[in-house]
Amino acid sequence: MSVLVTGGAGYIGSHMVLELLARNEDVVVIDNLCTGNAWAVPAGATFYRADIGDAQALETIFSAHDIEAVIHFAGLIVVPDSVERPLDYYGENTCKSRVLIAHALAAGVRHFIFSSSAAVYGAPGLEPVVETAPFAPESPYGASKMMTELMLRDVSAVNPEFRSFCLRYFNVAGADPKMRAGQSSGRSTHLIKIAAEAATGKRDRVQVFGDDFETPDGTCVRDYVHVTDLARAHFGALDYLRRGGASMAVNCGSGSGYSVREVIAAVKAVSGVDFPVERAPRRAGDAAMIVADSTLARDVLGWAPEYGDLETIITHAIEWERRLAARQSRA
Ligand code: UFG
Repeated sequence: MSVLVTGGAGYIGSHMVLELLARNEDVVVIDNLCTGNAWAVPAGATFYRADIGDAQALETIFSAHDIEAVIHFAGLIVVPDSVERPLDYYGENTCKSRVLIAHALAAGVRHFIFSSSAAVYGAPGLEPVVETAPFAPESPYGASKMMTELMLRDVSAVNPEFRSFCLRYFNVAGADPKMRAGQSSGRSTHLIKIAAEAATGKRDRVQVFGDDFETPDGTCVRDYVHVTDLARAHFGALDYLRRGGASMAVNCGSGSGYSVREVIAAVKAVSGVDFPVERAPRRAGDAAMIVADSTLARDVLGWAPEYGDLETIITHAIEWERRLAARQSRA
């Protein structure tokens, strides 16, 4: 029996493959390499360079392997791009997920784990958000994730053998503590990645998008979760489904909020580099504060972040950035 990881050449997917291999699972990866890298697929997994919307490729994979579970990460993730190119996001994230779900169902897959997002909540307010908060996505990206959650909910309702688990990520950051994987996409908008790039000389400054929000220091507050902890939460979800757990969706965050200025100060402190920081206008669609209530993940999965403190997340992100620069200068 095998686990199929879509997007296994990408940031979170590659960490998931490491987690599965460490637990002696047989892992199959499908990735079209539109943002991922073939070198990022951990050795030991069977890799197919193909698109999840390619029915022929899916037929090949599902007939060549006895896939018991799918963990679905493949998709586009840049929120401002989704506002500019909504149909691309609905096409890649929603329509192709539908193709994948249909093939998984036809192949008798029993467990489907999905990479969802806090973006399904939109701007939930200043209190930690719980899973019962209504869907209110404010970008096509968030809406594309919400639609896939709804497809899974509805398919699970009429196919009792097919159960799904959606993990709504907050701000994922950091890198594998053993430095076997990290965030390598050249087009990241993520604050910790960008500040780590500034700390390692890849950019000359960091912009703070808005400092007049209703938060303690005026900059946006986010909940940062270490990518390795997140991969472990997915394994917990797989274990939960294998034990017969019902379909559900849970938040995955640390429960602590840090402002943009606090993150930048921590990156400077950890790296010892005092890079320039400048004020910039608010970025469209940014909510003042998004912090997870992760009680449900703790109760259902027994999950608690192991690398939850901000310094650890930043230390790993900076170290990965240095390794990536060394790899790129060799190439
Ligand atoms: N920010 C800056 N400067 C930068 C980059 C980011 O000030 O150069 C700020 C943003 O304005 C925001 C905060 O840092 O206030 C965090 O921004 P990120 O881009 O790191 O992350 P987001 O909170 O916008 O987005 C994350 C995920 C999305 C997901 C969303 C859900 O990246 O995939 O959380 O809330 F949809």
